[in-house]
Amino acid sequence: MTREHPDAQAHGDISEVLPGLHFVTGSMQMKAPLPTRFSRNMTIIANGSDLTLVNTLRLSEKGLAALDQLGSVKHVIRLAGFHGVDDPFYADRYGAKVWSVDAPYKAGFGEGEPYFEAHEIVAADTQIPIPGAQFFVFQSTRTGEALLHLDRDGGVLISGDCLQNWARADRFFSLPARILMRFMGFIKAHNVGPGWLKTAKPDPAEVRSLLKLEFEHVLPAHGSPVLGNAKAHYTPTISAV
Ligand SMILES: [Fe+2]
Repeated sequence: MTREHPDAQAHGDISEVLPGLHFVTGSMQMKAPLPTRFSRNMTIIANGSDLTLVNTLRLSEKGLAALDQLGSVKHVIRLAGFHGVDDPFYADRYGAKVWSVDAPYKAGFGEGEPYFEAHEIVAADTQIPIPGAQFFVFQSTRTGEALLHLDRDGGVLISGDCLQNWARADRFFSLPARILMRFMGFIKAHNVGPGWLKTAKPDPAEVRSLLKLEFEHVLPAHGSPVLGNAKAHYTPTISAV
């Protein structure tokens, strides 16, 4: 069930976007269906000196040194069934506990045997050792997807593929990805992931129920952080699903 950890890919610096919440943008290289590269983000939650990594992305040695300056990695959270490729790396390196949505860790588009197994599958009532943290877990999707809500700073939503904010194609996009993903509707601020909608096929009513949550900020796996007034920014797109 084990396989070699994928190498670190190009990424930027870790920056603190809200007190104790750090964010880093890196890249995802895909070989199929065509060679392409686009960006993805990891959020780091610091609870004292304990760190929780959400939507992991493997950092370079220099990036890991910066991460270690923030504290010690204790937990990994996988919010999106289409993500998680770097979770085993952090589990091995730090002995971190891995919490995941209910989706097997499978390479590519789900062929073959799982390459990893999470320590705990998250549900709406799962308690993680982060103050004010609660999961919103989709019940209607074909592949596991959740968001993590933090009851602080007016509400913070950390999202996987569901809520995105690619206002523009950033420096981690390859040229084919720039063209193709704009054409496919990915390059849009305050977006509900178009690929996710198509593949995960959530019940629209369940997506719209996100608006029952209070949130001022969104830290997405794709695009830049939405800091301030996030619910108002997302309301048109979420309502239109
Ligand atoms: Fe994604």
